[in-house]
Amino acid sequence: MSNKPESGFTHEKIETNNLLMVVLILLVIAVGGMVEIIPLFFQKSTTQPIEGVKPYTALQLAGRDVYVREGCYNCHSQMIRPLRAETLRYGHYSVAGEFVYDHPFQWGSKRTGPDLHRVGGKYSDEWHRIHLVNARDVVPESNMPAYPWLEKSPVDAAAMPAHMTALRRVGVPYTDAEIASASQDVQGKTDMDALIAYLQAMGRALK
Ligand code: HEC
Repeated sequence: MSNKPESGFTHEKIETNNLLMVVLILLVIAVGGMVEIIPLFFQKSTTQPIEGVKPYTALQLAGRDVYVREGCYNCHSQMIRPLRAETLRYGHYSVAGEFVYDHPFQWGSKRTGPDLHRVGGKYSDEWHRIHLVNARDVVPESNMPAYPWLEKSPVDAAAMPAHMTALRRVGVPYTDAEIASASQDVQGKTDMDALIAYLQAMGRALK
């Protein structure tokens, strides 16, 4: 006696037909992907800044460029996961509304060092200066590289207005006045000043 139903569609038809199987898998992935991704473009919680999140100042923005240039993201994430072990160590977990002005994101996935998303305000500017020149001076067991040249290299002030104009095009609400004074705002500052200004601004909205 066969236990197949007399008529109608059986799962065996899919399992024994490669092409049908491939087509149906692609269909399931496509529909599933759309259901997961498309709503994110329209949800306020992912497209609007949360209260207290402001566009980076010219100096913080220059510091962010140093962060990217020096590859800090290779060892540090900026994404606190909503798990107890993480929130106890770092503070409030990261939410999408904190990153709306980040182009590109610095979330990272490699943690040779600790997550930096809530490092703003954790240490003094002076601590950061010493730590970046030689981390071993404040954390003897540290294997973080030293970045002594940051104190000597000046911020490229002339590049800032064009940089901010480009960010405005992708949605960061810089005013004409902010863009006009950008070069002036970073005049005479070093990459070190800029990087510290960026680190100190990090993750402050949700402490
Ligand atoms: C090779 C991996 C590596 C790289 C690259 C790296 N770091 Fe680190 N970082 C570490 C490690 C490990 C620690 C933990 C020990 C310490 O505090 O020095 C750390 C700690 C830190 C801390 C202190 C965090 C805390 O909560 O105590 C800051 C701030 C920091 N790094 C910033 C930076 C910046 C900015 C850069 C890029 C200029 C950078 N790091 C590049 C490995 C790295």
